[in-house]
Amino acid sequence: MPLWAYGVAERPNPADPQAVQGAPDAPPPAPIPPAEATRKRRVEGSPLTFTRLEIRGNVVDWFPDDHPNPMPSIIKRGPAALGSTGRPCGTCHLSDGSGRPENASPAGLSAKYILRQLNDFRNGLRHSVEPGKGNSNTMVMLAKAMTDEEMKQAADYFSAVTWRPHVTVIETNLVPATRIQGELFIPIAKKPTEPIGNRIVEVPTDVEVNQVLRSSRGTWIAYVPVGAIARGKNLVTTGGSSIVNNQIVLGRATACTTCHGADLRGMAPDIPPLAGRSPSYLAREIFDIQQGTRAGSYPLLPLMKKAVEKLTAEDVIDITAYLASLPVAGPAPGNLTLTRR
Ligand code: HEC
Ligand code: HEC
Repeated sequence: MPLWAYGVAERPNPADPQAVQGAPDAPPPAPIPPAEATRKRRVEGSPLTFTRLEIRGNVVDWFPDDHPNPMPSIIKRGPAALGSTGRPCGTCHLSDGSGRPENASPAGLSAKYILRQLNDFRNGLRHSVEPGKGNSNTMVMLAKAMTDEEMKQAADYFSAVTWRPHVTVIETNLVPATRIQGELFIPIAKKPTEPIGNRIVEVPTDVEVNQVLRSSRGTWIAYVPVGAIARGKNLVTTGGSSIVNNQIVLGRATACTTCHGADLRGMAPDIPPLAGRSPSYLAREIFDIQQGTRAGSYPLLPLMKKAVEKLTAEDVIDITAYLASLPVAGPAPGNLTLTRR
């Protein structure tokens, strides 16, 4: 299991209860120091100011021009059926759906694909392998509470956004020391002194901007083992097949390009893009699909499972390092991001 992708240090116990985030018995969040609570804050590139009190628990819209449509109630306030006990979509996925490594990036995916995922969460066909992953459990809870109309509004809203890449991949032997907080790695030193080992370490480029100010334009750095990108490219584009003595020797995977497109930017509307996405997110989905907790309703998903079934933990590091490193210039051909529905 790629523990690094789930942001945990130990293998979870499958018998643990699937607790949601912020459940009534959860400890309250740390108080904001009074002087900090009302100080007006800025992020680069935005003319707006928000205080920490305004940011906490709310959907902060630093860059309203990054989403072509105004935020519907479902994004700003969450499912009406849950009232104040629910969570607005934009608190986790940010105002434009650009998302974060510990959740997902729905921005720019096709409305059809988004609706299918929401229905899969609702119908118990998609949940995390990690029962302690509170945000995934909350996602399921929210999908179960949404009306069909709310699902449609959320899908239309996120799919109208042009997806921007936000991760830079760096091959390295040493990484800065980190601590795990909220299923994320947070750097606690500037100098890289820790051996990377068999993992990817994905961290905020600027802890203040991403964690405290919740900027939707925050960027991330993914440290990956040396050689991972080239090994990953081979697996992704050939499945690891090779020719030995004029015989084709089949690899451990099916070439991902077969379905996800030669440029790995997906085949809209049904097959999602992989290029430039968070390696932690990609690795969790690959593992959840391997293990069957993401079984889904789409008829091609069993083939997708077959494609990744034999991948080792090292393969998943290599594959996701390569996919995350791919440039994503502009919307994918045939992608629905530009056609409002
Ligand atoms: C508590 C944080 C949280 C909130 C709030 C939240 N989500 Fe999510 N969402 C997640 C997580 C975590 C995942 C990844 C689930 C997984 O596979 O483990 C996810 C996945 C998704 C996906 C799938 C993306 C993909 O590429 O397959 C969509 C679509 C989505 N969310 C839409 C929404 C909508 C719409 C709302 C508002 C009703 C919402 N989310 C609210 C945490 C959240
Ligand atoms: C037979 C076609 C097929 C092949 C081959 C395939 N995939 Fe997929 N993949 C899909 C489909 C279809 C989905 C969406 C399933 C759904 O709707 O839930 C998907 C979804 C995914 C997702 C989840 C994306 C998200 O936004 O949540 C990841 C990650 C992924 N594939 C990685 C891979 C990798 C890596 C390979 C190659 C080793 C691969 N796939 C090969 C068809 C395929």
